[in-house]
Amino acid sequence: MNEEFDFENRIVTTEFTREDGEGEASLRPHSLDEYIGQERAKENLKILLEAAKLRGDTIDHVLLYGPPGLGKTTLSAIIANEMGVNLRITSGPALEKGGDLVALLTNLSEGDVLFIDEIHRITRNTEEFLYSAMEDFAIDIFLGKGPSARSIRIDIPHFTLIGATTRAGQLSTPLRDRFGVQQRLELYTPEELAIIVKRSASILDVPIDEDGAMEIASRSRGTPRIANRLLKRVRDYAQVKGDGRITLEMAQSSLKMLEIDELGLDLTDRRMLETIIRSYDGGPVGLETLAATIGEEAITIEDVCEPYLLQIGFLARTTRGRMVTRMGYDHLGIPYHAKNDAPVGSGQISLVADVTDETEEYE
Ligand code: ADE
Repeated sequence: MNEEFDFENRIVTTEFTREDGEGEASLRPHSLDEYIGQERAKENLKILLEAAKLRGDTIDHVLLYGPPGLGKTTLSAIIANEMGVNLRITSGPALEKGGDLVALLTNLSEGDVLFIDEIHRITRNTEEFLYSAMEDFAIDIFLGKGPSARSIRIDIPHFTLIGATTRAGQLSTPLRDRFGVQQRLELYTPEELAIIVKRSASILDVPIDEDGAMEIASRSRGTPRIANRLLKRVRDYAQVKGDGRITLEMAQSSLKMLEIDELGLDLTDRRMLETIIRSYDGGPVGLETLAATIGEEAITIEDVCEPYLLQIGFLARTTRGRMVTRMGYDHLGIPYHAKNDAPVGSGQISLVADVTDETEEYE
């Protein structure tokens, strides 16, 4: 790995880290009413839950998609909680063989919620079992080979599958179509994150003022997981350097020490933008080329770095690759030279499909 780009140990990574484990369960909301943000998703899920309860039925299968760290697992736990059923959690990579899924499905109780994280990574074999499980609540087991081959059908309990993915575009159409509800989760606004930070601070028994909460929120890249992680770091700093109270000054100086800037960019983001500017004249540069230059996997750049840089309009995805926008140059303090094909720097540009890359994540 290129030493300059330390993707593994970033404080602002959206991936779940060991440090997030501390108090994580207590910070999680347990009901939709406690859950802050994602208003559209909440509204849809409320109707779904209410209707299922009125009918005395299970809810339809749900696909949750969007960048990591936005609360897909939390929402699934809430759904199971509100329906009064068990939640079973697994992930695409853990279901390597079809048999792994069969074992799980046959052990469910009526109405249970099965959560499959990273569902785009399940194998073809496992996917085949999912089709009839989702549609008919039955699985077909094939016995023998050749002319004497036969299959037996096993009924399984009515269950709700909640699939989570950062790349809905990678799901096969037959699988995607079997989800009655497909809900995109969005990055949170700083105002929503500030409410989450204050809620978490109160659970952790840390005194915090409005400005301190807002400062942490605006550096959290639209992601509650990062907001809660930064809150814990700032809490430690405030205990050691101050009187334990999180104020604007405490938040600013501790985040400065962690090299997270006012917009939540860390050294990795800044270096990535700088590489595009210095080595590729601001872009366009293809994702794979960029990945090779900075020595990181394309998927990490796409899932961890890009969603936020696109959202704040520092990066644009064009038909010919990634470009740093004028706003990106301005933020880094690098003089901007207008190019004919340069985008102006709005988050909207991220909606342009990037035909140079095979992935179409979050679509
Ligand atoms: N903690 C993490 N995500 C949250 C959310 N969306 N609402 C409330 N608390 C949270």
